[in-house]
Amino acid sequence: MRVAVVPAAGLGKRFGGKKQFFTVMGKKLLEYPLLVMEKSELVDGVILVLPAQDLETGRELQSRFRKVVKIVEGGKERQHSVYRGLLAAKELSPQEVFVHDGVRPLITPALLNDLVVALSDYQVEGVIPAVKPKETVKEAGAPLEPGDFMVNRTLNRDKLLLAQTPQLFRFDVLLECHRKALEEEFIATDDSALIERYGYQTVAIPGDYRNIKVTTPEDLKIVELFLKEFYLV
Ligand code: CTP
Ligand code: MG
Repeated sequence: MRVAVVPAAGLGKRFGGKKQFFTVMGKKLLEYPLLVMEKSELVDGVILVLPAQDLETGRELQSRFRKVVKIVEGGKERQHSVYRGLLAAKELSPQEVFVHDGVRPLITPALLNDLVVALSDYQVEGVIPAVKPKETVKEAGAPLEPGDFMVNRTLNRDKLLLAQTPQLFRFDVLLECHRKALEEEFIATDDSALIERYGYQTVAIPGDYRNIKVTTPEDLKIVELFLKEFYLV
């Protein structure tokens, strides 16, 4: 069995509100990944993680997306939300788990398939989609005026990867890594960081520059353009 945990319990501080419920082209952003998962044979059940105040919205989504088998209340950080989702998923005894941000609407069935194939072919604990940065990446040094920094150094772009979601993991390994991280209060911004930290192996496969995470309001325009392209409406 393979499940998907969808963390969507954030407050959207940089966006200015709970972006996962923002309507774009007639649907909440969160509905787009749920649509793809609903139709995919590679996902047996979805665990949706939502803010405590939005469980009612969750019930409504559950009535339309049959694969949403559980709705869980989120935690303080994304990592806590994913952990709660994993605990709920454990009752289903899955072998594999996708973790996918509820605010990345531009996923495809092909991407889910590529991840599943790679996890099996490489025999590792995790597979993530990633793209190379297009810009030159600097390390910021001492802060000066607000927004200004001394520049420490330039990173080698050829060795850098920007991690996206969905990320696919062996379920027991990811749960173990989350437990360890919680114990030592280590917080990461994605799940594969925990896989690396505790000595397991992740493989990166080609992601898609269009698979953006809606973070600030200007991302909406880009998302709308690509949604039109993906859904041809
Ligand atoms: N998320 C979550 N629980 C949290 C924080 C984030 O489930 N405590 C989810 C978000 O809802 C989103 C994904 O993790 O689907 C990626 O997080 P991010 O883009 O940082 O969203 P927010 O935390 O909502 O935004 P911000 O950091 O600007 O407040
Ligand atoms: Mg956040």
